[in-house]
Amino acid sequence: MSQAQATNDVTSNPVVAPIPRWVPLLGGLFGSTACGLLLYAWSVFIAPLSAEFGWTRADIALAFSLCCFVFGLTAIPSGRLSDKIGPRKVVFMGAILIMVGFVASGFINTKLGLYFTYGVICGLGGGMTYIPPIATGPKWWPDRRALATGFSVVGLGLGSFIMAPIATWMIANMGWRPVFWYMGIVMGVLGILSALCLQNPPAGWKPAGWNPPAPAPGTKAQVDYTHDEAKATPQFWMLYAAYFCSAFSGLMVIGHLAGAGIDRGLAPMAAAGAVSVLAFSNAAVRVIIGGIVDKIGVRPCFILLWSIQVVMLLLIYPVAGNATMLWIVALIFGWSYGAQFTLFPSACVNYYGPTAQGSNYGLLFSSFGFAGLAGPWVGGYLYQLQGNYMIPFAAGAAVMALSLVLLIIAKPPALRNT
Ligand code: 2OP
Repeated sequence: MSQAQATNDVTSNPVVAPIPRWVPLLGGLFGSTACGLLLYAWSVFIAPLSAEFGWTRADIALAFSLCCFVFGLTAIPSGRLSDKIGPRKVVFMGAILIMVGFVASGFINTKLGLYFTYGVICGLGGGMTYIPPIATGPKWWPDRRALATGFSVVGLGLGSFIMAPIATWMIANMGWRPVFWYMGIVMGVLGILSALCLQNPPAGWKPAGWNPPAPAPGTKAQVDYTHDEAKATPQFWMLYAAYFCSAFSGLMVIGHLAGAGIDRGLAPMAAAGAVSVLAFSNAAVRVIIGGIVDKIGVRPCFILLWSIQVVMLLLIYPVAGNATMLWIVALIFGWSYGAQFTLFPSACVNYYGPTAQGSNYGLLFSSFGFAGLAGPWVGGYLYQLQGNYMIPFAAGAAVMALSLVLLIIAKPPALRNT
């Protein structure tokens, strides 16, 4: 039976959408760009903060780890709230927190001050801004869920890509404090625009011309899992562990890639180039892989990309002294790294349905918080053992292989029928 035949034959569409359905996608783009500006260009602040206050790299990196941790854990209440009160209010509160936290970071004079403003307040704001668009997009795009998810995370890649040069230029011309003040306001405005674009579709709405798949003969209509039911499936926790492992090895590499190149004799500019190449493919993959998942399913993408990623992790150390090779490896590495932020929410919504996606994915994403805290730190610790990056990247490959095995085992749960 063709897919067109296997649908409920509903031709009328009585529930009218209050907004065109591309508007929530724009909301995802704005919100995720605010988060990208916030998170991934943090390393540009290391040199100026250490020059002004004499803090060590580890001291300053701790602010970033703390921000990732709080960001990840805030995803849990953020997703639940988004399911309960809708995405707009949650993202609005998140935008205000990001703005307040980042602007306040421009006034700090102590490490504790930085940990509180950037680590805690911005982390809270980031988690509240990031999850609701991921929960909302697929509700408007039941026919293209993964693509809609890609739009809700693409700005993390874009924001980090544009923030590094802007912040570097501003630091050179105005000092580091104005970067926090002005970019904090830009992030707040982006977050508020995101909130304005986001709302759930009205009950019973569906895209014109699209009908939910008809139940297989002899079965009843499929319904979404509740959050409690989703949490009770073993697949949910396998996805959780797999997400932790892939984010852990990815963040370990992102935190140490430039250092590995320099250690093997590359010029700092060539090593920094590898980080930019990684950031580029991290951004580019997010929407593209969404389109592919909607066509071939999420599991083949996981298995192919994760297998390639294990090989890349094994290659980084041997090739790190050769700029061209390191850039090629970084390009492929960034592709799989960025893909995970579309693939895991897509797996979650495909396995459990869109109704509780905020709560389900919010909980799943908290694994990223633990990975952000542990990955870069463990990389630094393993580096100390031999004074090179062979052990950290080999350990990263082993952890990534474990993620692959878990994803092979975690087959979709049985359809839940009324
Ligand atoms: C991402 O890149 C938040 O790091 C997460 O989407």
